Amino acid sequence: MELAGFGGGSSDPGIGRLLGAVLDAGINLIDTAPDYGGSEAAIGAHLAHRRDEFFLASKCGCLVDRQPEFRGGKLEHDFSPENVRAGVEQSLRRLKTDRLDLVQVHSSPTRSVLEEHDTVAAMEKLKSEGKVRFLGMSSVLPELRDHIEMGVFDVFQIPYSALQPENEAVIREAAASGAGTIVRGGVARGAPAPDHNDAGEHDFWRSFVREKRDVWARAGLDDILDGMTRMEFLLRFVLGHEGLHTTIVGTSNPDHLAANVAAAEKGPLPADLYDEARRRLSR
Ligand SMILES: NC(=O)c1ccc[n+]([C@@H]2O[C@H](COP(=O)([O-])OP(=O)(O)OC[C@H]3O[C@@H](n4cnc5c(N)ncnc54)[C@H](OP(=O)(O)O)[C@@H]3O)[C@@H](O)[C@H]2O)c1
Repeated sequence: MELAGFGGGSSDPGIGRLLGAVLDAGINLIDTAPDYGGSEAAIGAHLAHRRDEFFLASKCGCLVDRQPEFRGGKLEHDFSPENVRAGVEQSLRRLKTDRLDLVQVHSSPTRSVLEEHDTVAAMEKLKSEGKVRFLGMSSVLPELRDHIEMGVFDVFQIPYSALQPENEAVIREAAASGAGTIVRGGVARGAPAPDHNDAGEHDFWRSFVREKRDVWARAGLDDILDGMTRMEFLLRFVLGHEGLHTTIVGTSNPDHLAANVAAAEKGPLPADLYDEARRRLSR
């Protein structure tokens, strides 16, 4: 999603260097969406020749023929079979590939919207044609429990961090159902980072960041960093969730990428620190 912010568009050499560094660091999952501006085209332009090195996830339900509008605080989507197929086929062209490893329904529509449009049948047809390998849902509460109960999704992408805990229990339920879990938002948009970059940030994210900084301060987490940066602490906190199978961390900054990889390589927080952080956050 962060690739959408590069000034030079999908051919920007800075994007090429960043994406190359992602694979060189050993990251093997990339998440994108038709809704993320030139992101799919950038991945196609710079990584098509390394396609076998990574698991590629995109989304469906994003509008194919026109720019979506914000309605009631949500980006407009269309979960009809025609739009789902047109979107996946457009993703394949943009990404210069013959298959998506994972296609996720974007934006957590309700079960009744999915059933009304027969969205899952459209996704299964694409799977039977070899255009996608696994079916997923980008999901949040309250819809997430229904999505798990449907029993048709291989993977759930779910927002969660130390500072955004509302999905903590349901991630466990998703994993226990046998599905894969992808946690996003694990570094809380970099909210407590001293160099948080808010250039061009949408109003929605500005208030999210303000709120999460406040949670960080009120929990007194600076007192227990034990030499870590705030970002290392947040990332390693998320890695301690036993229902997490993988996490996607967005960045457009090569230094942040390197720091995040180094932090992730250290693994989850030590148990005593994790417990103390949870105690402070729940208080
Ligand atoms: N399914 C959905 O509805 C949905 C919604 C949102 C996002 N996503 C996916 O999830 C990914 C992550 O998205 P997210 O924005 O929700 O969460 P995130 O990974 O918690 O936050 C990304 C933000 O954190 C900043 N950041 C990352 N590492 C940092 C560091 N070490 N120090 C300071 N700042 C740092 C980045 O800014 P810099 O560029 O300055 O590093 C970026 O703006 C997206 O790329 C997208 O693929 C999906």
